[in-house]
Amino acid sequence: MFISINQIENLSQFKKEIFTGKIFIFQKSEITEQLIDQIKKKIQIHYSGPLEKLHHLSNCEELSTDLIANLKNTEIFKNLFYNFLISINFLQGESYWDKFVVRVAPAKNEFGYREASRIGVHRDTWGTNIHQQINWWAPISSIEKTNTMVFFPEYFDRPVKNSTATWDLNIYLENRKKGDFSYPSAPELLEDLPESLKIWPVTIKPGEILCFSGSHLHSSSKDKSENTRFSYEIRTVCQNDLDEKNQAPNVDCELQWQFPKIFRNMKDNSPMKMTS
Ligand SMILES: [Fe+2]
Repeated sequence: MFISINQIENLSQFKKEIFTGKIFIFQKSEITEQLIDQIKKKIQIHYSGPLEKLHHLSNCEELSTDLIANLKNTEIFKNLFYNFLISINFLQGESYWDKFVVRVAPAKNEFGYREASRIGVHRDTWGTNIHQQINWWAPISSIEKTNTMVFFPEYFDRPVKNSTATWDLNIYLENRKKGDFSYPSAPELLEDLPESLKIWPVTIKPGEILCFSGSHLHSSSKDKSENTRFSYEIRTVCQNDLDEKNQAPNVDCELQWQFPKIFRNMKDNSPMKMTS
């Protein structure tokens, strides 16, 4: 179900496969291990215990929130991730990324605060309406089926009811600036998925990196777990995919606009623009 690779041999073929729903796992390398080491080092400045057991602390929520804020978009993480993209032959021409985010998913599946939470069923493209988006996701500590990310592969090209027709990123960002988090951070699923649906949990190891189309329907696993999960993620868009319209099918996103503003040029930090 997941395809394990070290390097991209043929970039246009790779993109074609990504945009038809294939999910890749890049194998551990010196760079990806360095990245994990650097993230752990920075976590240890604030918390020196075992990552999986963070929830045993009484102030775990506050600590998670502080950790995420302190680690967000750290330069050294971005540099290493950029080197990783070069090492796998992914970068060709102008490319953009959003923020490098370390996420903490609590052991108990309770309502959390922003990036310190389990996340419901969604497609990332519901938030941007940019179907050339590629997602990168990786665990920092060991993960298990009960606290990881899960895919619903049958729904990659099958529509589900959702709130994209009425959701607006600008309203969310405006409210967030004022400290108001009542508006949903992303569009939401508006139907119950069947019990019998196929679920692919991700159980890769630290150092391995998952790569998939931002159009995949996915969520955090819903089970109760004994372990807190630490993972990192970033999203990329390549200019030539925008120009050539290499993209995943849009089956159910009804956003009125596209929202390129979360993406910045990897080299000069200039904002990404949609030309069409
Ligand atoms: Fe997501």
